[in-house]
Amino acid sequence: MKIKGKHYRTIWEKPGDNTTIRIIDQTLLPHKFEIVNLRTVDDFATAIKDMLVRGAPLIGATAGYGMYIAALNAPKNDYFSDFINISAKKLISTRPTAKNLEWAVNEMIGAIQSENTIDGKIGAALAKARKIADDDVEQCRKIGVYGMDIISEIFQKTGKRVNILTHCNAGWLATVDFGTATSPIYHAFESGIDLHVWVDETRPRNQGAKLTAFELGEQGVPHTVIVDNAGGHLMQHGLVDLVIVGSDRTTRTGDVANKIGTYLKALAAMDNNIPFYAALPSTTIDWEMEDGIKNIPIEERNPDEVRFIDGLNSGEIKNVLVPPEGSPVANFAFDVTPARLVTGLITERGICKADKNSIMELFPEKNEVK
Ligand code: MRU
Repeated sequence: MKIKGKHYRTIWEKPGDNTTIRIIDQTLLPHKFEIVNLRTVDDFATAIKDMLVRGAPLIGATAGYGMYIAALNAPKNDYFSDFINISAKKLISTRPTAKNLEWAVNEMIGAIQSENTIDGKIGAALAKARKIADDDVEQCRKIGVYGMDIISEIFQKTGKRVNILTHCNAGWLATVDFGTATSPIYHAFESGIDLHVWVDETRPRNQGAKLTAFELGEQGVPHTVIVDNAGGHLMQHGLVDLVIVGSDRTTRTGDVANKIGTYLKALAAMDNNIPFYAALPSTTIDWEMEDGIKNIPIEERNPDEVRFIDGLNSGEIKNVLVPPEGSPVANFAFDVTPARLVTGLITERGICKADKNSIMELFPEKNEVK
């Protein structure tokens, strides 16, 4: 998608030097635009852990390139495999909830093991990292093509501007391009459908207010930032036609883990008879997991993210303390919306109900997994 009219992906190889991988430092957006070079496995682990890159699909694509850099930097002797295994563990330990991270690392290990020579392993790793990124773009594009039908149907039925509520950033910045929840929005907008997006600010890190608002604005999509608790009120007053969110991990039964607060939006949507969709590539699906509430690992982040809030003040990014100095704080980063509250899943293979049978109908090859 575009920033100041120029097309970017969220991760790319430095032109003429594929030993350096580039990302946008998302901790600085929307107030500063900085490109960061990643050259070591530690650079990649830090970029994921400190959320310079974030969003399940982009975390996966970054881990893919991180494993390629691991192959490139590994000692070219008997310790090659040890270095690969240590790097894999280091990357997987950065963030626990997004399934795409573990998936991408395992894909990379498979590619590296498929070759016998060190040069072959490095070549296979680069090809696989590129494929993970390219596939994500194509999957998100298809999510947009399928998902825009939902928006278009509402538009045809009402003949009025379609109001869509989204939570966190499941936009192109959370993927390699297009986004998951935002891809149907971008596709519908491009096709001329009159729409408007309610953007939950998404405390504590404000990915909605900072990233979703930024990227929608850069593509010219009408939007309004709201506080996290406004959604229910808007729904009660007919101001929301549709909710679309992303997902960090979706079980084979259709339970959806996403940014903290998503569950409450789903409850309010159900109470107001408003369709609630999760948009996700199949790389986000945990094919072995049945019970999301019991089993999806929920990341607990640094309490300072709740205690402090940052933003622009007189041209500089400043941090301020919100609660009393000594108040204890908890920071759960994700929650799980049970499948019964999810109208449907928008995937790269089409839209299905959030239940085991419907998911397996779209992905029949996964029946063998369990
Ligand atoms: O903590 P973050 O910013 O990585 O959380 C991101 C989200 O919750 C997204 O909604 C999710 O990863 C889906 S991204 C397409």
